[in-house]
Amino acid sequence: MEATREWAEQQDSEDPLSLFRKEFALPDGVIQLNGNSLGPLPRAVPDALDRVVRHQWGEHLIRGWTEDGWWDAPVRVGDRIGRLIGAGPGRTVVGESTSVQLFNALTAAARLCPDRTVLVSDAANFPTDRYLAGSVARMLGLRLVEARVDELDRVLERHRGEVGPVLCGAVDFRTGELWDVPRTTAAVHAAGGVAVWDLSHAAGAVPLDVDTAGVDLAVGCGYKYLSGGPGAPAYLYAAARHHDALDLPLTGWHGHVRPFDMADEFVPAPGIARARTGTPHVLSLLALEAALEPLETAGVTAVRHKSLRLGDYAIRLVAGLIGTDGASAPDREPQVVTPAAHHRRGNHIALRCPGAPAVSAALMERGVVTDARPPDLLRLCLNGLYVSYAEVFDTVAALRDVLREEVRTADTGLPAGRAGEVAG
Ligand SMILES: Cc1ncc(COP(=O)(O)O)c(C=O)c1O
Repeated sequence: MEATREWAEQQDSEDPLSLFRKEFALPDGVIQLNGNSLGPLPRAVPDALDRVVRHQWGEHLIRGWTEDGWWDAPVRVGDRIGRLIGAGPGRTVVGESTSVQLFNALTAAARLCPDRTVLVSDAANFPTDRYLAGSVARMLGLRLVEARVDELDRVLERHRGEVGPVLCGAVDFRTGELWDVPRTTAAVHAAGGVAVWDLSHAAGAVPLDVDTAGVDLAVGCGYKYLSGGPGAPAYLYAAARHHDALDLPLTGWHGHVRPFDMADEFVPAPGIARARTGTPHVLSLLALEAALEPLETAGVTAVRHKSLRLGDYAIRLVAGLIGTDGASAPDREPQVVTPAAHHRRGNHIALRCPGAPAVSAALMERGVVTDARPPDLLRLCLNGLYVSYAEVFDTVAALRDVLREEVRTADTGLPAGRAGEVAG
């Protein structure tokens, strides 16, 4: 029953989130399943940007900083993103790239525990996180220890008394595994460390409660589930208990207590404003602000509920592909590597699929936008805010066709197009 398109269409007709789809400019005939890399364009963004450029910048000129709220935007948008990750007001600031915020957060974390000698970094984290952890460790003379999040307890025990900053990703960017942020944070604290989280693949997709979890610092991308667009600024969260002691390395003038004094010495602003750096990327920042509305209205909990159902559906359909019609070969069958259990699953489903980059490219030709990560993972991002059940059905059908074609190509030794002709 569930393997039919009719069933999927029925789910869509009963889906309370289906009305949010029209808030996004999704091209006809395209199934957008890589919102974990670049979210789709929210319809409100072009108009908002047009207003900012023509009216605010064009007519108000420098008065835009005050009259149009440009100056306050990093903390105003920060508060809005804060609400999506469970942060109270005045704890999140928006600006710079995620890489820059990682440098800022990690260095500040190390300065919160100057007697500690070890920086622990999630070995499965996104490359920029690992590179920056290495760089910060070198710069501060810390010993870098890499470990997977599921090995962390052992590592924290081994380095008890030495552990300082611990950087982890909340969701594994490859496998889509979701880590237990509160439990891991508590374990880091028990070892005397400072927990820094990269929330890029979780914020806006998975309900988070950074305040209650006791997270020390966190960062994340603005262009994934927050749909802020290419190059959207990142965010940095810092727990209120750290604000007074927060010694960030990027001491830009916007973080000064009295920026317009143009003083000789840097005196940090109170609260999270000290995490501001220099002049913000106003156009990108205001595009991100306009992009947040559909997600805020729908609510992360409702989006998560539907995304999990879409994921369950995809997992069942992919399981149904395996060995069904002799069209696939055992060594080419896709295997779901993302945990099925809801509390262990982030928002994208990763399939181990030999030749994943070629499969992703072939899906793209069929209008299904996915992505691949080396060596052999195909990622499907099922964002309940705009993805439908029928699209999940069509995606798995397209995947089945692509894999059949591949098997024929392998059998005949002919390229895919020719193999298609041979197969009739
Ligand atoms: C977990 C994570 N952190 C950081 C980044 C990228 O950082 P930046 O925006 O500085 O390129 C990505 C990009 O996909 C990511 O997945």
